[in-house]
Amino acid sequence: MQTLEQPRQESVLAVTGGESSGGAGTSPLGGPPIKGRVLVAYGSRFGNTQRIAESLAAGMRKASGVAVDCSYLDEVSIENLRRYDLLAIGGPTEKMSASKPMKEFLAKLSTTALRGKRGFAFDTRFDLPMSGSAGKVIEKSLERLGVEIVRPHASAFVRGMNKEEKALYGNIATPEWVRNLDKSIPREAAAKPGHLDLLCPGSEGTFEKIGTELGAIFASPPPLLAGASTA
Ligand SMILES: Cc1cc2nc3c(=O)[nH]c(=O)nc-3n(C[C@H](O)[C@H](O)[C@H](O)COP(=O)(O)O)c2cc1C
Repeated sequence: MQTLEQPRQESVLAVTGGESSGGAGTSPLGGPPIKGRVLVAYGSRFGNTQRIAESLAAGMRKASGVAVDCSYLDEVSIENLRRYDLLAIGGPTEKMSASKPMKEFLAKLSTTALRGKRGFAFDTRFDLPMSGSAGKVIEKSLERLGVEIVRPHASAFVRGMNKEEKALYGNIATPEWVRNLDKSIPREAAAKPGHLDLLCPGSEGTFEKIGTELGAIFASPPPLLAGASTA
């Protein structure tokens, strides 16, 4: 049976400039003015969703003036969410839904005002008709909170564990594994990010592209201004 450790600390890039209200700000390092602040918040048990989250963040960072934080769920301060313009939230699909820690995180979101913010949900899952989708669950939660979904939820597909991996990590298909999971592990943990490589080829590239698309939202002026005369 795998021993799950506490998540590693990760803060990829601190949000720069401005304070709590989001919107435009200045870069203290003299870079382009900040047009949008994005938080990529993820859960991950074996590191695969973490890699997808980081690819998404890398794509977003290609857009000029977009400040991106990429953080594990446990490190996200709910009060600080109001600082962001776009929330991209993702996690592994487990038991045909979002994982227990993700559901706990989503429940906490209702304690802060997110109405009017933009959102995007993603997940990792098997490519099977009845797999369920954590992304769908996350997206619905965001919608309920008045978040404007800017792109339908997306999935990165994973393969099942092979015989050797099952021997190492335990067979997640067994009821015992699942029972122990809910009983003894209060929260999920990216024990060894990227250690158990289950991602189907091309997934990281696909999510980097999605990140680039999402980052571009902040590169173009809002629709109302786009049509306005400059005379
Ligand atoms: C307890 C458990 C239940 C799972 N149930 C599902 C499921 O119902 N549908 C599915 O597509 N994948 C399921 N999976 C596979 C996970 O989606 C896969 O392990 C995950 O995407 C890997 O991402 P991670 O490394 O970020 O944890 C399950 C995995 C675990 C550990």
